[in-house]
Amino acid sequence: MEIIIQPTAEASAEIGARIIRKLLLEKPDAVLGMATGSTPVSMYRKLIEMDLDWSRVTTFNLDEYVGLPQEHPQSYHSFMWENLFSHINIKPENVHIPDGNAADVPKFCADYEAAIKRAGGIDLQVLGIGSDGHSGFNEPTSSLASRTRIKTLTERTVRDNARFFDSAEEVPRHVITMGIGTILEARCNLLLAFGENKAAAIAGAVEGPITANNPASALQLHPVVKVCLDEAAASQLQRADYYRWVYDGKPAWQRY
Ligand code: F6R
Repeated sequence: MEIIIQPTAEASAEIGARIIRKLLLEKPDAVLGMATGSTPVSMYRKLIEMDLDWSRVTTFNLDEYVGLPQEHPQSYHSFMWENLFSHINIKPENVHIPDGNAADVPKFCADYEAAIKRAGGIDLQVLGIGSDGHSGFNEPTSSLASRTRIKTLTERTVRDNARFFDSAEEVPRHVITMGIGTILEARCNLLLAFGENKAAAIAGAVEGPITANNPASALQLHPVVKVCLDEAAASQLQRADYYRWVYDGKPAWQRY
């Protein structure tokens, strides 16, 4: 794992955006995995400002709530169009977001996995992390080999996400999410985490044992993971000084 610690979330989001810009310049028909939630918003804003060519890019989102109409302001469909897709030249037919209203959920999930394979696999997967270590909506005790499927949110995630709704009762309990096995097949994973609330989950994911109790810890098995943090999210890392030392000593050609 490459741990990149920046003084602020803005500076860290800038590095994340530069990593994606580099990929899109090198591979204009890249396949990107996208995340939602508050964390990637500033990185998406920076990508919009970079005015890149998205005309040949394909995207697959990690997850979606089950049962929310697509046009609901808190659906991840609405989120993606509002925060990124409406502002770039991506082709709507190249955008894939799980259908939280699919009539046959298992079939939808199998088709989603097949579509990722048909597209050639994901070049770079954007990830956030929940305060309980979930990534995508792979809650603690998710199988580390899991594929796209329906999951039940933990009460903690429902509470965490209630800030986007009028009340916790309105947060759907079920979601469709790519699995940890799906995420591990992306060629590169870009994990962003900002704020004190994420510090314990990040310490577990980066330095803890690989365990289904912190599903993001499975990323330790992946060969190319970049973790962009602010100081608060990095505050429980025991080897933070080493990560800073490594990043500060990078040769210019390795920088973003
Ligand atoms: C959303 C997703 C989730 C979020 C996580 C953190 O697509 O995959 O794992 O990344 O719940 O959410 P925020 O960024 O709102 O703290």
